[in-house]
Amino acid sequence: MMYVPSFLRKSLALSVFVTVGAAAERCKTDEDCSLNGVCWRFIGRCKCDPGWKSDDCGQLDLQPVTRWTGYNHTNVTLPDYYSTKGGNSSWGGNIIQDRHDRGLFHLVVDQFARGCGLPGWRPFSTVIRAESLTGPAGPYYYAQELLGTFRHNAKVVWSLADEKYLMYTIGIETETLDRCRSFKWANNVSVSSAPYIRGPWSLAQRLLDGTNPSPWPLWTRGDPTAEIALAVEDNMIYAAPGFDSTYTLLKRQPWNTSDYSAHWTEDPFLWRDRRGHWHILCYWMVEIAERGEKYPRVGGHLFSRTLGGDWTFKLQPAYDTTVRFTDGGHTDYYRRERPRLFFSDDGRLTPLYLINGVQEFNSSASYTLAQPIGRGAGVYEHGLGF
Ligand SMILES: *[C@@H]1O[C@H](CO)[C@@H](O)[C@H](O)[C@H]1NC(C)=O
Ligand SMILES: *[C@@H]1O[C@H](CO)[C@@H](O)[C@H](O)[C@H]1NC(C)=O
Ligand SMILES: *[C@@H]1O[C@H](CO)[C@@H](O)[C@H](O)[C@H]1NC(C)=O
Ligand SMILES: *[C@@H]1O[C@H](CO)[C@@H](O)[C@H](O)[C@H]1NC(C)=O
Ligand SMILES: *[C@@H]1O[C@H](CO)[C@@H](O)[C@H](O)[C@H]1NC(C)=O
Ligand SMILES: *[C@@H]1O[C@H](CO)[C@@H](O)[C@H](O)[C@H]1NC(C)=O
Repeated sequence: MMYVPSFLRKSLALSVFVTVGAAAERCKTDEDCSLNGVCWRFIGRCKCDPGWKSDDCGQLDLQPVTRWTGYNHTNVTLPDYYSTKGGNSSWGGNIIQDRHDRGLFHLVVDQFARGCGLPGWRPFSTVIRAESLTGPAGPYYYAQELLGTFRHNAKVVWSLADEKYLMYTIGIETETLDRCRSFKWANNVSVSSAPYIRGPWSLAQRLLDGTNPSPWPLWTRGDPTAEIALAVEDNMIYAAPGFDSTYTLLKRQPWNTSDYSAHWTEDPFLWRDRRGHWHILCYWMVEIAERGEKYPRVGGHLFSRTLGGDWTFKLQPAYDTTVRFTDGGHTDYYRRERPRLFFSDDGRLTPLYLINGVQEFNSSASYTLAQPIGRGAGVYEHGLGF
């Protein structure tokens, strides 16, 4: 008799049942499992990696959030603020474990100055660092400004080859205004670097026209290279021999990326998984295209075996705007954008937290939410003593 691992026996029984009942799509390749797991061909079912769920492993296994975690200081008002509506509104960030103190977590987050909030993002966006002594979920508290107005969409990675943090942003150094308002400017992608997360950060160096950069160093144990990949808007992918050298376009997606098309996205977040396959999470704007609304389907997921290869975008949500809380309540957000993941550091790159910029209905304030993923988040926190 064929050996069937115990974890599959239940699914095997289920799959027999399922074939009789509603026909679940049977997988043939790992692509059918969104490259977030493997296809067990003899039963035609996906075994998803930790952090992913559903028949095709295309959904993040999101867990309830503890209220008042993340970075939510929307109720702050300071004497020099131009508006009382935004508080210290923010719009997504990067969780970084301190390199020397494993119990200290940094959140590098886009925060709007002077209480101007998201509507005044150009030019009031700054990049600040907040700290948590209570684990990666936070709550995080303001610690310092890293880059002043106007810098936005900070994505931070550690480059082993350079032994530096690299911070990719959009923006331009500019005078602040005397009231809240926003300009329409071309966005340019820039990079700054620093040996320590607190700085000193180098002056932002302009790299290319475009917006919403998402870097991933190509360094591996077998290949200690300084090369870096960079995804930008419309899921275009560039590569460069070093973070401060020339970026060459490697991949333009073949589908229609125009506004209001089915593949309309922004805010890509690029990563390479434990098997060396590539993924992008992004803000999928299908609801705007179909209904002129920003909810509930918002999480887009794309995958490819190689960086410059054939990417698959299944046009289905990896997550939506409903967030459950540990107190049993839930919030249906008006907006949930700017996805980023925080991964396990055991070499397996298990996604542990999903970070988003969120906005509630009927509020002009926004904040940064960190939602635990799968069982890994709890195990990781427990391992750190939280
Ligand atoms: C964030 O802060 C606002 C204003 O203080 C509050 O109404 C909201 O419930 C908070 N949300 C979470 C998830 O902590
Ligand atoms: C703002 O919310 C925090 C909780 O994050 C609370 O401790 C604080 O008292 C609130 N401040 C104001 C001015 O409402
Ligand atoms: C709000 O942000 C300002 C910087 O713009 C900072 O000085 C202040 O400490 C922050 N307050 C809170 C409660 O986050
Ligand atoms: C972006 O770069 C272009 C030149 O390509 C320049 O004209 C424009 O002012 C720049 N915009 C910003 C916001 O830096
Ligand atoms: C791309 O999509 C847009 C929006 O739906 C549409 O107007 C345009 O005709 C499409 N372009 C092509 C080449 O299909
Ligand atoms: C937002 O406000 C409008 C009118 O002011 C109201 O009809 C709607 O129910 C509110 N939505 C939520 C989710 O609170």
